[in-house]
Amino acid sequence: MRTFNSFFLNLTVSILDFLYKGRDFQRFWVLEEIARAPYFAFLSVLHFRESLGLRGPEHIYLMKEHFDQTLNETEHLEYMESVGGSKYWVDRFLARHLVLFYYWIMVVYYYVSPKNAYHLNLEVELHAAETYQKFLWDNPQSEHTEKIESILMDEINHSKELHNAMLLIK
Ligand SMILES: [Fe+2]
Ligand SMILES: [Fe+2]
Repeated sequence: MRTFNSFFLNLTVSILDFLYKGRDFQRFWVLEEIARAPYFAFLSVLHFRESLGLRGPEHIYLMKEHFDQTLNETEHLEYMESVGGSKYWVDRFLARHLVLFYYWIMVVYYYVSPKNAYHLNLEVELHAAETYQKFLWDNPQSEHTEKIESILMDEINHSKELHNAMLLIK
C-alpha cells in the first residue's frame, strides 16, 4: 500500500504542477482546501467506531489531535483566501469536487487501514512543506515570507503528529 500511496501522491502532484504553474496562491489554496479533508475523515471514522463500541485507549488523544489539525488547516485556508487564492471560479470548482472525492476515499481508507491512511497523509504534509519551502527559495523578498514560514512549520508538525499516530495504533 505504501507504493500505492507514493504513486497516488506523485500523480496528483504532477497534475497540480501542470495546472498551477506560476499561480502559487491558487495552488496553495487548493492544497489547503484538500488538506482539511483527511482530518475530518479521521474524525468521522473515529466517531463511527465509537458508536460501534470500538473505542481504543488512543481514541480521545486522536480525536483531539485531528480536531486541532483540521482547525489549523482552516486557518491556513483563510490566509490563502485573504491573498486571493480562491478568487477564480475554476479553482473553487476543482478544489471543492476534489475534496468531496478525497474525503470519501479517506473515510474508507482510514476505516480499512488506518496506518496506511496516516502514511499517505504524512507524505501529503511533507509535500506541502516542500511546496512552501520552494516558494520561500524562489521568492526570498516576498511580503508573505513570515506567514509562509509559519505555515511550513505547521505542516512539518502535522507530519510528525501523523507519524506519532501511526505508532499509537495497532
Ligand atoms: Fe496547511
Ligand atoms: Fe497540514
